[in-house]
Amino acid sequence: MCGIVAYIGPREAYPILIKGLKRLEYRGYDSAGVALLNGVMRIYKTKGKVSDLEHVAEGHQLSAHLGMGHTRWATHGEPNDVNSHPHLSQDGSLAIIHNGIIENYGTLKEALLERGHVFKSDTDSEVLVHLIEEIRKNTKVELDEAVRLALCEVVGAYAIVIISKDDPTKLIGARKGSPLVVGIGDGEYFMASDASPIVEYTKDVTYLEDGEIAFIKDGKLSIKTIDNVAKTPFIQTLEMNLEAIEKGGYTHFMLKEIHEQPKSIYDSLRGRFDTSTGNFAMRSLKEYAHKIKNLKRIIIVGCGTSWHAGLVAEYLFEDIARIPVEVEYASEFRYRNPVIGEDDLVIAISQSGETADTLAAIEMAKEKGATVFGVCNVVGSSIPRASHAGAYTHAGPEIGVASTKAFTAQVSVMILLALGFADIKGKKSKSELRNIMAELDAIPAKVETTLKCEDQIKELAKKYKDSHNFLYLGRGYGFPVALEGALKLKEISYIHAEGYPAAEMKHGPIALIDEEMPVVVIATKNAHYEKIISNIQEVKARKGKIIAIVTEGDTKVRAMADYVIEIPDAPDIMVPLLATVPLQLLSYYIAVERGCNVDQPRNLAKSVTVE
Ligand code: AGP
Ligand code: GLU
Repeated sequence: MCGIVAYIGPREAYPILIKGLKRLEYRGYDSAGVALLNGVMRIYKTKGKVSDLEHVAEGHQLSAHLGMGHTRWATHGEPNDVNSHPHLSQDGSLAIIHNGIIENYGTLKEALLERGHVFKSDTDSEVLVHLIEEIRKNTKVELDEAVRLALCEVVGAYAIVIISKDDPTKLIGARKGSPLVVGIGDGEYFMASDASPIVEYTKDVTYLEDGEIAFIKDGKLSIKTIDNVAKTPFIQTLEMNLEAIEKGGYTHFMLKEIHEQPKSIYDSLRGRFDTSTGNFAMRSLKEYAHKIKNLKRIIIVGCGTSWHAGLVAEYLFEDIARIPVEVEYASEFRYRNPVIGEDDLVIAISQSGETADTLAAIEMAKEKGATVFGVCNVVGSSIPRASHAGAYTHAGPEIGVASTKAFTAQVSVMILLALGFADIKGKKSKSELRNIMAELDAIPAKVETTLKCEDQIKELAKKYKDSHNFLYLGRGYGFPVALEGALKLKEISYIHAEGYPAAEMKHGPIALIDEEMPVVVIATKNAHYEKIISNIQEVKARKGKIIAIVTEGDTKVRAMADYVIEIPDAPDIMVPLLATVPLQLLSYYIAVERGCNVDQPRNLAKSVTVE
């Protein structure tokens, strides 16, 4: 998730930490903090920006040669001063900063509470530093070993750095699922989430692998795995410039975020269902089971891409849980005095959690007595705070204005909610749920496979970059995908595009078809496959150009289309998670070919906080 910077060496740590945290601001965050050790452990932290942290720390004792800094992207515990990092152990001798999610923090926290630990924050991260302290106290092992043993008990993802008041020459870092880089300078060491805070001081770095722990002690670096196997650090010399480092080596944030989707989908699903039992672990399902059991209607509100995720969700809830659903543009819903009441559940979908129309829509829904769930990507943002319950997408910060990983994360969470609702309403047996969950487990790898079409898409983009109009067609779960693909193209390449239900074409749009018109068709081997083939034939009969998204191994569509992009086979309900990816890449590469500002398209904002 967000940002870590740490330093040990002859220089003053504080300026290095602050500058480093500013280098990591691009990753999006809600809070910032530092720990400085100079005989005394000093912690300065605050909700807000790094500049706010500087105001908090101003005028205090900041001199130290060992310290660490953190920018938080909250997952557990809303953004506030207390939940900001660093967090201290019970006795105040240890400080930790953490990026990631400790899934089993609840179980660990209960055990520590029973042993008298007192927690100051609501975060999962604070539990880890108390666990390290408890292990050290009970087993009398060195800090290094206590850290290793504690990490063996952790389920989830982490990049952590720990410093100890009793060990001022020691800096410990570890990673599993969240990145951590160690910079090796001349008598000094750095640790950071990526190389951007390090590169101006040294180009010699080693990227920790998952399950590795880095120990710096008395000016020496050693690495071992959590299985206690010593590793020789693989030191490489950085070639990338600063800007390239911030984007993880990708040219744009949007491309980075498209490629993050195997991980962001995995993170949004992780820990929320058990494939062996068919059970769910989602608080909203538990707390509102009674309401869900008797639910007669769901209304989904959102804007733009989030509205498209809502359209997918309509098909999901009706298909899987047999609950009637209406999908509303929030901007229309809020003003048309809809007939809603206590029997209704309104689900608001929003990446930013700050979209004005969506927020206003749920405030109105609450006034009319409806229950409101929020499905958002920013913990502690306005929409989740205004909702009765919901579920966060754990896509991590989405920097590119065009929403990509947030969309597939939203769809992932909506699939889980639809399955959970079906479970509560008895519409799916446990064995059916287990089978669907097994398919869900396979999705991150299938998205990874789908991304292999990138080079083919690059060529396609070169061919169609000067088109004036695109048509996107789909049926069933492919229809919202068609809408999303069209929106992506419009908003970053400025080419006009429309998404349509494929069968609707003969009710007007077919008049547009000619040899200049690229028609993108979601033609996977799912429901309506034969019908889609007829639509493709109608387009071909009018000399339209067909770009078809097909199931790998398809020969039928391949024989008709001008281009086919293959994606792995998947159940109907998961097609949006795969078929959307080539369309994201197509819009991206066409926009690049056209020299557009991909990450900040003209006239657009990442979060529309005004009407
Ligand atoms: C999507 O690519 C656009 N950036 C835009 O349509 C966006 O989805 C819409 O503004 C809703 O934003 P939200 O998800 O943060 O509420
Ligand atoms: N899960 C931790 C928290 O919510 C860390 C979040 C992050 O990656 O910044 O505080």
